[in-house]
Amino acid sequence: MQKGIIAIINHKGGVGKTTTTLNLGKALSMCGKKTLVIDIDPQANLSQSIGVEEPDMHVYQAMIDNTPLPIVNLAENFDLIPADLDLSEAEVKLQNDVNGYFKLRNALKSAKEKYDFILIDCPPSLGILTTNALIAATHILIVVQSEYLAVKGLQTILKLVESARENLNPDLEVAGMLITQINKTVFRQNIAETLRNIYQGKVFQTAIRQNISLAEASSVGQDIFSYSPKSAGAEDYMALAKELLS
Ligand SMILES: Nc1ncnc2c1ncn2[C@@H]1O[C@H](COP(=O)(O)OP(=O)(O)O)[C@@H](O)[C@H]1O
Ligand SMILES: [Mg+2]
Repeated sequence: MQKGIIAIINHKGGVGKTTTTLNLGKALSMCGKKTLVIDIDPQANLSQSIGVEEPDMHVYQAMIDNTPLPIVNLAENFDLIPADLDLSEAEVKLQNDVNGYFKLRNALKSAKEKYDFILIDCPPSLGILTTNALIAATHILIVVQSEYLAVKGLQTILKLVESARENLNPDLEVAGMLITQINKTVFRQNIAETLRNIYQGKVFQTAIRQNISLAEASSVGQDIFSYSPKSAGAEDYMALAKELLS
């Protein structure tokens, strides 16, 4: 694909959604694609992991109050719309609004034309914020940790995607499943293989290896290409960007 709005989802926390949004986003921008990453997780991990804490304006006002999108430029071709902890209140407001599911799509209308890629970092739940992402998106990318229980949870996500497609967003496509935190243990390799067997062409060829530099980078507010450009993490996320673009 050459452009699109990709919701990065999984209702489990700690699987690598935020890491993927940030580093795939940065990799796409380095490939010359104008890229926007959006934090819609009330925990605001994406904003924090790129060093944007307690922003004056965040995605919540744009969704609820129709204010202009608060876009923060991070690097050439690379922008962020931050979240902050107030976003948890947004969930209640959205639930009480008849158009509550469509707020993100509406808020993004003006930005859509300005970017090749918009990546949405979803919260670890399948609630109304994630549904907003599924309606705003053209594609979803499901992050799967190479663990037995993670594989079991996939059916739940695929059902939600199917229901979003049938009822709300008929053009929604699965860009692919991304296996993360893979290592050399036979167990994790087997899980990756099982996933590839079950979901066939839907799993990205590129898997993201377990790499401590990825965790270190976010703890100092940097993406992996700024923090450690030669690390396995940088190599894997660049390979993923190229696979997505090919
Ligand atoms: N490939 C990886 N190797 C090592 N650590 C990782 C990797 N991907 C993510 N992490 C770390 O695991 C934790 C959870 O990742 P995160 O992206 O925040 O998950 P999620 O957004 O799904 O909750 C973070 O501390 C992150 O730095
Ligand atoms: Mg996260």
